[in-house]
Amino acid sequence: MSKLKRTHTCGQLRLKDLKSTVALFGWVSSVRDHGGLIFIDLRDRYGITQVVFSPDKGEDFFKIAGQLRHEYVVSVRGIVSSRPPGTVNPNLDTGEIEVYSDTVEILNKSETPPFEVMDDSNVSLELRLKHRYLDLRRPIVQKRLIFRHKICQTIREYLDSLDFVDIETPVLTKSTPEGARDYLVPSRVNLGKFYALPQSPQLFKQILMVAGYDRYFQIVRCFRDEDLRAQRQPEFTQMDMEMSFVDEGDIIQVIEGLMATIFDKVIGKKMAIPFPRISYREAMTSYGCDAPDLRFGMKIKDVSDIVQKSDFKVFLDTIKSGGQVRGINATGCSNYSRKDIDDLTAFVGQFGAKGLAWFKVEETGLTSSITKFFPVEVQQKIQQCMDAKKGDLLLFVADKPKVVSQSLAQLRLHLGHKNKLIDTSAFNFSWVVDFPLFDYNEDLKRYEALHHPFTSPHPDDLPFMEEKPLEVKARAYDLVLNGVELGGGSIRIHNPEVQRRVFRMLGIGDENAYKKFGFLLDALKYGAPPHGGIALGVDRMVTLLLQLDDIREVIAFPKTQKATCLMTDAPSEVDAQQLKELGIRVV
Ligand code: AMO
Ligand code: AMP
Repeated sequence: MSKLKRTHTCGQLRLKDLKSTVALFGWVSSVRDHGGLIFIDLRDRYGITQVVFSPDKGEDFFKIAGQLRHEYVVSVRGIVSSRPPGTVNPNLDTGEIEVYSDTVEILNKSETPPFEVMDDSNVSLELRLKHRYLDLRRPIVQKRLIFRHKICQTIREYLDSLDFVDIETPVLTKSTPEGARDYLVPSRVNLGKFYALPQSPQLFKQILMVAGYDRYFQIVRCFRDEDLRAQRQPEFTQMDMEMSFVDEGDIIQVIEGLMATIFDKVIGKKMAIPFPRISYREAMTSYGCDAPDLRFGMKIKDVSDIVQKSDFKVFLDTIKSGGQVRGINATGCSNYSRKDIDDLTAFVGQFGAKGLAWFKVEETGLTSSITKFFPVEVQQKIQQCMDAKKGDLLLFVADKPKVVSQSLAQLRLHLGHKNKLIDTSAFNFSWVVDFPLFDYNEDLKRYEALHHPFTSPHPDDLPFMEEKPLEVKARAYDLVLNGVELGGGSIRIHNPEVQRRVFRMLGIGDENAYKKFGFLLDALKYGAPPHGGIALGVDRMVTLLLQLDDIREVIAFPKTQKATCLMTDAPSEVDAQQLKELGIRVV
């Protein structure tokens, strides 16, 4: 216990506090010995205050001051003084004052930290995650987590003001399919049986609607065992909500209001609502993906019809076998070298493209190694279609639609960043709507739900769901921010028969459906109201609003790409006795 009692934080004192006696507690951020006087920067999460120790306050006192090292935890008492002229630090909120200490206590020592606890210390992510307590002590990291807290707080206040009720749902539960693998938890009292950690609270929130709660929300942890690409963690947080007696427009309106409120209250920016809506088809056609980055143009154009009149075998063969030829106009890039184009070709190769055909647009027309296969009229039509001007570089991929979309979507983003076409300070929201209900999985030769199996088909499309499944539209919507899917939701199926038909289309027979989702099908039989909702990725939202790249920067204790925690060493082996109790043998 310290003899002292904290009177102020390290971010609080100003010139108006001159001559008051204060007690500060915190960590030693730096120590400087200046000709008999010792100066430290004392840090807590509110800021940094300079403290001065002078030998004329006593020998014992000054001896303790001399022992202070980085990251020692100390309490000091002293008098607030103005800094001598020329020593004011304009970078610190407390930079006009310093505390002349007369009492100091070392509350705890610290070993020499493996890295300096400073904003700009250049440390590997591994080291930061291993000593996360030190990393989290860095002011910049503390600011991020406090920002995250403010966002969550704003979400709660906003939804509460609209009569939403925060209700917790189980973590030890049955699997809900959201497209990833489940994390399983073995049951000791029911040997051989497993709980699944929820991939989302989807079915519970629907059941809360059946139960009459009308407006539910939860800031909730979800678990998905999936390949960890950027922007994904095995456990992550959703702002999950559900409403009864609503249509798509109602959900969209609540979320637009929420985003505008967050921007207003947390960032101090006015956000224009409503957000533009773009159909899934338009997104795939013009941007090659369902989460288009609309901060810049460079739309993808289809030249399949035009190049059919060429003699370029690669294009002709691709089109004949059901493929397509699409491209983008890399405006002003006709000065790219052979090597630049080879690099772009290798880049699209990662996404399955077998090549990258190119034309440079010059005064005289198109030039390329393949121009000879394209009659002049065809060249002119290509130029027209691509809005090509002198100085542009036209890039084309010929392949199956999926490969073309994927490689051009990535190429567009790559060139957008490389050529600085993207205003990185902009926040560009959009809704992607009119999704298909099903997707066909070529590998597994079966239909899959594009969102999840509880998404309502468009009522007009119900009559032909079994005959033309790929033409059925879903009542689903995704919220996209700067090319990242921030959230997804839908109006749900509330009729048990429609739900069974959708399960059947997904290859889940009636018996199997009962085994997996009997509780939902039962609940739908007892007066289920029409309902719908959405979930937003909180980690992604905070990352994007802070203009960071990695969601681990806004999660206190994140996992690595291999789903491990470097600080605790989870996952780890367990005692043989524990396994025995669970009836598990590890092979
Ligand atoms: P969905 O699966 O689209 O929808 O998830 C909603 C949002 O959660 C975020 N997200 C993730 N964030 C970090 N790491 C992950 N592994 C991860 N997976 C998803 C994304 C995503 O948009 N039950 C439905 C919602 C509904 O229909 O209401 C659902 O979970 O930002
Ligand atoms: P080649 O006939 O292999 O010499 O290729 C001539 C040009 O066409 C090169 O620029 C290749 O990158 C390009 N090319 C080859 N295959 C494709 C394809 N599937 N799509 C687009 N361009 C291609």
